Amino acid sequence: MACGHGLLAHILLLLDDSSPAALAVDVRLPKSAGRLATVLQSDWPRLQGRIRFMQQAIETIDIGPDDLLVSVHACGGLTDLVLDAAIKGRARVAVLPCCHDLQTADDGGLRGWLDGSLAIDATRVARLRSAGYRVYTHTIPVEISPRNRLLLAEPE
Ligand SMILES: C[S@@+](CC[C@H](N)C(=O)[O-])C[C@H]1O[C@@H](n2cnc3c(N)ncnc32)[C@H](O)[C@@H]1O
Repeated sequence: MACGHGLLAHILLLLDDSSPAALAVDVRLPKSAGRLATVLQSDWPRLQGRIRFMQQAIETIDIGPDDLLVSVHACGGLTDLVLDAAIKGRARVAVLPCCHDLQTADDGGLRGWLDGSLAIDATRVARLRSAGYRVYTHTIPVEISPRNRLLLAEPE
């Protein structure tokens, strides 16, 4: 979701060949997304025909319990739209949030104790748990990205 060039869709299928296909969704697919896909798929032919790009909004995609929603750096409230879609479809989800909007995002009233972006992500965890999800939290190396909080969740 919010896939940009769709690199993550390719990498996930490379890492987990048990997933039959990936849908790469973005409201504005970059022009070079197709070229990148061609190059990647000529290096890894087993990806051919398994990744479909869709130029539309996350909110319009039908999600079901067999899906895994992934999104890297869906800016600000876009991460919440990904969580909304996952909860609605009872799908598993993995996000790496970024660009937290300290003015509008729900911080769960935690700003007295936690820095703003952490309060927002902690509140996302609380929301997933109250929607019946089991949550796992990790970080990726800060050298890859300083926006490095990885939030994974699956229905209980
Ligand atoms: C910061 S970029 C991240 C792109 C990619 N995930 C990456 O890590 O390189 C955010 C992306 O969200 C897309 N976007 C914004 N609103 C969206 C929406 N409602 N539905 C789907 N994509 C959206 C933008 O077009 C942009 O490509």
